[in-house]
Amino acid sequence: MRHMMLMLALLLPASLALAQAPAPPQDHRQLVDMPDLPRSLMRADMQDHLLALNEIIGYLAENKLDAASETAEKRMGQSTMGKHAAIARGQGPGRFMPDTMQQMGWNMHDTATEFAKVAKQGDRTRALAALQQLTSSCVACHMSFRTR
Ligand code: HEC
Repeated sequence: MRHMMLMLALLLPASLALAQAPAPPQDHRQLVDMPDLPRSLMRADMQDHLLALNEIIGYLAENKLDAASETAEKRMGQSTMGKHAAIARGQGPGRFMPDTMQQMGWNMHDTATEFAKVAKQGDRTRALAALQQLTSSCVACHMSFRTR
């Protein structure tokens, strides 16, 4: 009996704490249902976008604007659009995106290409402003959509 009381005394605060756990913050993003293949292709792309962005910032810090330009176009620019079409046989992520999401994706490719052009001209301040247009495209889509 003594043991029981002790156990209760120990467990009660823990269960009270659980009952009072704060509600998780609301997620207002729209869920986009995608089969596994396009979803993992998109995830791999996303990871590479983040790597590319990090490289670009490094190049800008070293004033290597040509290298920054090249990374942006080769990894995120308009020339990378539809690269999954062949391997994924019509199962590329774009096909499963709602219109607005697809527009946001195109906008990312456009702003990456625009950044590449501006960076080539060699003015770092203007290049940074163009880079923020690109990161804004990441932010816009991330605030609006999720896939899980
Ligand atoms: C067209 C919409 C869209 C654009 C544009 C976009 N993303 Fe994403 N990204 C997503 C979605 C959707 C996810 C998955 C989020 C989820 O389901 O939780 C994601 C996930 C990610 C992830 C997490 C990958 C992982 O490890 O699971 C990274 C990193 C990322 N994005 C980076 C970027 C960067 C950097 C940019 C801009 C250069 C960018 N994304 C632009 C839609 C987008």
